[in-house]
Amino acid sequence: MTRPSFPPSNAFHYEDGVLHCEDVPLTDLADEEGPTWVYSARVIDESFAAVDEAMDFAPHLVAYAIKANGNLAILARLAKAGAGADIVSEGELRRALRAGIPADRIVWSGVGKRDRELEVAAAAGLRAIHIECLEELDLLEEFGSTEAPVRVALRINPDVDAGSHPYFATGLHSTKFGLELEVARELLPRLVKSERVRLEGVACHVGSQLDSTLPLREATRLLAEFARECLDAGAPLRSIDPGGGWPMAYGGEQMPFPAHREFGAAIEAGIADAGMQGAGLEVVTEPGRALVGDAGILLVRVLAEKRQGGRRFVIVDGAMTELVRPALYGAHHAVMPVMQHEGEWSAADVVGPVCESGDFLAQGRPLPPVKRGDLLAIRGAGAYGREMSSTYNGRPAAREILVDGATTRTVRRRASIASLWAQEEM
Ligand code: LLP
Repeated sequence: MTRPSFPPSNAFHYEDGVLHCEDVPLTDLADEEGPTWVYSARVIDESFAAVDEAMDFAPHLVAYAIKANGNLAILARLAKAGAGADIVSEGELRRALRAGIPADRIVWSGVGKRDRELEVAAAAGLRAIHIECLEELDLLEEFGSTEAPVRVALRINPDVDAGSHPYFATGLHSTKFGLELEVARELLPRLVKSERVRLEGVACHVGSQLDSTLPLREATRLLAEFARECLDAGAPLRSIDPGGGWPMAYGGEQMPFPAHREFGAAIEAGIADAGMQGAGLEVVTEPGRALVGDAGILLVRVLAEKRQGGRRFVIVDGAMTELVRPALYGAHHAVMPVMQHEGEWSAADVVGPVCESGDFLAQGRPLPPVKRGDLLAIRGAGAYGREMSSTYNGRPAAREILVDGATTRTVRRRASIASLWAQEEM
């Protein structure tokens, strides 16, 4: 088996046979205590700039979907660059505010919100709370006042197939998300009359990791047409938000995915298809993985190698508890040895110590000979890695390091073993 080619990166590269993050050899960042997340500040900055530039066709807000990675250092960095946040819980709201993202740049998109969450969001003065059911409108009218009406958007379910993994296609009527257009339309007279809520936006989200821009363009057109209906009905509409879904290269794609530029152009085209290009609406976008996915790796250490049942298993100290995407979605993440080897590459399953056969980080992937103590980098792990982590099998949360040029900073300490039972009683 030959050495595979890995997704290109502006941060992760070999120098003198050692994989680096920016100017730092990854061998300097591993410890003996468990796996480590390593993020490149440069890639985060560049990714934000690329998305921001792709949205330059209109006044816009890049509301980072912080569910992808809410580390405070990353949020603070993005906040400084001008990002807002797309959030889904009070926990994420507090996190975004704590990192310095102003409420006026925060939108809340989520399919179920508790009373307290709606009350807190209303009081915080968010840019938009996306209404996804009638119950939310009833409560927000209670929490708003005539002096300070709550700013809301209607989240539409456009019934557009994103074509991505079914677990993250969210724009079909067969999913729980948003409101059918008909239902949203019926709410318009009530919203326009209300003195306690202000309909300032329309929103949707067709899904993640879109490999074509067509579903996005179509959903944006439907959304922009609905925006016109809202304006005609007298709503003080300010923005249109076609959600996230900006894709990134993981390395296992069948086809090249659309570049950021094309993604932005699809939103622009969708608005133009509806004849709404001159309507003066701000455009909100909610990228998650496109801002941070490429910026991160999971650094793991080899514990053993064994051959069994005709397979080669490389057992490492990272697991589905850190990166669940391969187990949950069959997701592909490139695996790179930290030290370059001369030996023959052969197919291996990279698996963790967790007691499940589904605990794998990669399957049948070319790897050079490895031995206990060697390090591997699992690429494309900056998004939906740490956020979906669990402590299953008594595994405390891993350490996170942010690299910026030649400087490194631990931006989250490794959780202690005692943290595993800190909230428990005997
Ligand atoms: N906006 C909304 C309303 C969303 O629900 C999501 C993702 C995003 C934006 C950001 O999507 P992105 O641009 O990152 O694709 N855990 C899965 C992804 C589930 C995403 C759920 N919602 C994964 O690991 O790929």
